[in-house]
Formats: sequence, structure tokens, C-alpha cells
Amino acid sequence: MKVTVVGAGNVGATCADVLAHREIANEIVLLDIKEGFAEGKALDIWQTSPINMYDSRTIGSTNDYSKTANSDVVVITSGLPRKPGMSRDDLIATNAGIVKTVTENVIKHSPDAILIIVSNPLDVMTYCSYLTAKVDSKKVFGMAGILDTARYRAFLATELNVSPKDIQAVLMGGHGDTMVPLPRYTTVAGIPVTELIEKDKLDAIIERAKFGGGEMVKLLGTSAWYAPGAAAAQMVEAIIRDQKRIFPVCAWLQGEYGLKDIYLGVPVVLGKNGIERIIELDLNAEEKALLNESAEAVKGVMDVLDGMNILA
Ligand code: NAI
Ligand code: 2OP
Repeated sequence: MKVTVVGAGNVGATCADVLAHREIANEIVLLDIKEGFAEGKALDIWQTSPINMYDSRTIGSTNDYSKTANSDVVVITSGLPRKPGMSRDDLIATNAGIVKTVTENVIKHSPDAILIIVSNPLDVMTYCSYLTAKVDSKKVFGMAGILDTARYRAFLATELNVSPKDIQAVLMGGHGDTMVPLPRYTTVAGIPVTELIEKDKLDAIIERAKFGGGEMVKLLGTSAWYAPGAAAAQMVEAIIRDQKRIFPVCAWLQGEYGLKDIYLGVPVVLGKNGIERIIELDLNAEEKALLNESAEAVKGVMDVLDGMNILA
């Protein structure tokens, strides 16, 4: 199986490293626009193979898409990351231009590929790639929910002093401050989380998870990469190995949750065909209101993109 990762920066290189190290694909192409950068990162990753004992090949390419031909999955991480004081939406114009060009090149060489978008603002860049690719929406979707849920699960594991492996959670909505963690669907080894933690502590963790990306930007001066890269690789693995895993993924909604023509985070089944099913939870009135509020925020940024005529 062949996987291309576009953007050899922090997130892209981390994703390629996880894909190689865990032998999720036997051929990995890392592509970047910066001369020699992807080649250098790919060579460094390949040189870990005798140490980490794997044989997946990683090769680099400076903007030569012929090397990406016939990829099964393509992860798009190219674009500017957030800097302190910037919202994800501030990135829209620059990153939309990049995501459009990259998607055109990717589809030209791998018309059957499944595309996973990572570039921010995530929901709208996924929409941008979908409009450009002109393929089935089951094959174009975004990574955010696994990361946001991982942050929420990691914070809960610390607070409860239990293994993060035992924490299961669902989080929906846009990849922004309006994202919707769902305590009613959060369990610790099958025990409802609400039985193990006081409400004010859980509320504080939910707030921290919602602003988890911003917390990392403040600490690092740029956005996070280990968890985002690993999250994108986990989606690739579910597709390549046809695992039918259930993950929160930024998906094109056509009436699910009463929402239409919008990319938004919802639980889906991921397998070899991409999004194989969108799972519709029976949300209560409060959860539905929060999801609608998040959808409004995403729709606002989608409208900004539509108004820019970048895709014309
Ligand atoms: P980075 O700056 O380390 O890497 C981005 C790379 O993209 C650079 O190497 C740059 O040369 C390359 N690039 C720019 N234009 C390109 C083009 N036209 N073709 C090919 N490569 C191009 O940034 P980082 O930290 O890796 O973040 C990448 C993107 O992912 C950002 O937009 C960031 O906001 C987003 N992100 C999204 C997350 C999510 O949960 N969806 C989480 C973390 C980051
Ligand atoms: C993150 O959540 C900024 O989207 C990036 O880390």
C-alpha cells in the first residue's frame, strides 16, 4: 500500500514517521514545496529503520507529484500553522490556495486516492479540498476529532489517575473553540465518567480540551505535532487495514443531525472505502444546541471561503 503525506513540516513528518515505524504502509512519499526538505526528512526517517526494525520505505519529493502516483491514501498537511494570537480561521486565505493546488496535483496522479485533510482551518480546508477534488465525499474528510478527543481523554486520565487506554469518548462539531465534547458518551472502562468525577472538575477538563490547540500554541510558539501526526496516521491505518474503526471525523453532512452541505466532526466508521457510515447519536436538546452553534461557526467560515472565489 502506498501513502503520500503532503507537507514535510512538523505534522507531516511526524505522521510519515508513525506510518513507517508501525509499518502501516510499505511505501510512503513525503512531499514538500521547500527544496530538499522532504528528501531530508524522508532520509532521516528511513535511517531509523535499522534501529526501529521495520522495512517500510519513506522517500521524499520536492513538489514532484509523479512520485506520488497511485497512492491509496494522501494526507494533506501543507499550509501555515497557527502562531500565538492567530485563530485557525486567520489562516484561511493562504491555506485555501495551498490546499486547492495540492489537491489538484494529488488527484491528477492518484484519482482513486482517499484524502485526509489536516491543514487549518480544518473543517473549511476539508471543504476546499472536496470542492477541488470533485470525488465522492466518502473519500475526502478531515482529521481533528481524534486529536481533540485524545486531548480530552489524556486530561481525564491525568485527573483520574487511570490509563488513557481505558477512556473512551465522543466529541463532535467543528475543530475550534465551539467543539462539543459529550460527557454522556464518555466512559472509563465502561463506567460513565460522571460517576467518577465531580461536575466542576469535568467541566474544567471540557473547557481545557476545547482550547487544547491554543494551549499548545502558547507553549510552543507554533501548533502541536506529535498528537496531530499520530492521529492522522491512525486514520490511515483504519483505511489501509480496513479496520472499521469508529472515530470522530470531519465529514460532509447531507441531512445527518439535521445539517446539510457542511463539513463537521461526527462519529463515523472508517474502512477501506473511506467513510463507510456516519453514526447518528440521539443527542439531547442541550447537546443538539451546542452542535448547531458549532455548525453555525463553521458555516460562517465556509461562507468566507465561498466569498473569496479562490475555487473559481
Ligand atoms: P509546518 O510549517 O511545520 O509544515 C507545513 C509544511 O507545508 C511546510 O514544510 C511547508 O513548506 C509546506 N508547504 C507549504 N505550502 C506547500 C505546498 N504548496 N505544497 C507542499 N508543501 C507546502 O506546519 P505544521 O505544524 O506541520 O502544520 C501544518 C498544518 O496543519 C497547519 O495548517 C496547521 O494549522 C495544521 N494543523 C492541524 C491540526 C488538526 O487537528 N487538524 C493539528 C495541528 C496542525
Ligand atoms: C491544534 O489543534 C492548532 O489545530 C491545531 O493543535
